[in-house]
Amino acid sequence: MFAQLPDPPVDPILGLAQLLASDSSPDKVDLGIGIYNDENGQAPVLDCVKAAERWLVENQPSKRYLSSAGHPEYNDHTRALLFGEGSDAHQRSRTIQAPGGTGALRLASDLIRRLRPGGRIFVPGPTWPNHPVLLKASGHELVVYPYYDLATGALRFDEMMACLAGMTSADTLLVHGCCHNPTGADLDLDQWGTVADIVAKTGSGVLVDLAYLGLGDGIDEDAAGIRLLAERLPEMIVASSYSKNFAVYRERVGALTLVGANATDAALAHAHTLPVARTLYSMPPDHGAAVVARVLGDADMRRGWEIELRTMRDRINAMRARLSSRLAGQSARDYSFIARQRGMFTMLGITPEGVEQLRSDHHVYVTNSGRVNIAGLNNNNVDRVADAIAAVSRD
Ligand code: LMR
Repeated sequence: MFAQLPDPPVDPILGLAQLLASDSSPDKVDLGIGIYNDENGQAPVLDCVKAAERWLVENQPSKRYLSSAGHPEYNDHTRALLFGEGSDAHQRSRTIQAPGGTGALRLASDLIRRLRPGGRIFVPGPTWPNHPVLLKASGHELVVYPYYDLATGALRFDEMMACLAGMTSADTLLVHGCCHNPTGADLDLDQWGTVADIVAKTGSGVLVDLAYLGLGDGIDEDAAGIRLLAERLPEMIVASSYSKNFAVYRERVGALTLVGANATDAALAHAHTLPVARTLYSMPPDHGAAVVARVLGDADMRRGWEIELRTMRDRINAMRARLSSRLAGQSARDYSFIARQRGMFTMLGITPEGVEQLRSDHHVYVTNSGRVNIAGLNNNNVDRVADAIAAVSRD
């Protein structure tokens, strides 16, 4: 059986690791997978995470099974963080811990397939490459809506809205809550309002992917879009992740939050989600969620986390500014959009040959799509990377 198999597909993000490993240059720069690296090019464990892990070693009473919903305090802290403690949406939502943001998305995808059989999912063009694969694995038909203009670095908002006007009450709209992956281009609050209007008008569902909360402009600032949706719409689903903002990537710490018209509806939706989780993985891994619950539930540790998060955010935004201004001096192409965008990513809009040249001539690794992980830049490599980008943009 195995011998007949064709070559497997190569993951557009994870697949880059092999290419990088085969480049022996000491100057190589990894701007592929979305990991936050500090000024020394390292992705260390956060101090608040270490402190919570020490606390758990001393105080965790048991490792017995929990329910398919995972860690109860983690779930409570998560929806309070998303919507604000005591807010209306906080009170009419329920959260289920999930194995990473990807696990939360797959859970949402299977749930939506059960609740809205035959409905389509509208996804932004471009989007995170795992979105279409994962959604199709649940059996969904996809519609790609125009989102971003690679040539200018601007949103295609009018075209997006024209496309979304074609949604029906069987369909679901997938949006990125902040720090859009791969473009870094987000909606402003007026645009979020227009999106809420079209969803209300068409009766479609909304699924928000929120993987970079706090890495754009701040926790409340980055949550403003989803909070507006929750205020204006009776229902929505949010797949969120702590992989990046707690730097707990391999621990798989995600969550699915269901907002209902009222607390009773949310509890019902929650009850229908538990059997979906049970058939996929039974229950999520505890360690990372227990760490996050401890940090968010302890005033001192939480303050420490917010400081560490601000350090990451400020460094990313400083790298955006420096990359953009260095490029301004030497590239005919206008790269000023890099400084205006938010989160880990931007798209260079260069040709596949340009991507190849970045690798072979300059040892700079971005994904085949031309996506750059800004959080892989530092003061030692940013000018060299800018010069390399300018060189391949000229050709
Ligand atoms: C990314 O887009 O690089 C991250 O979300 C990591 C991943 O799983 O693809």
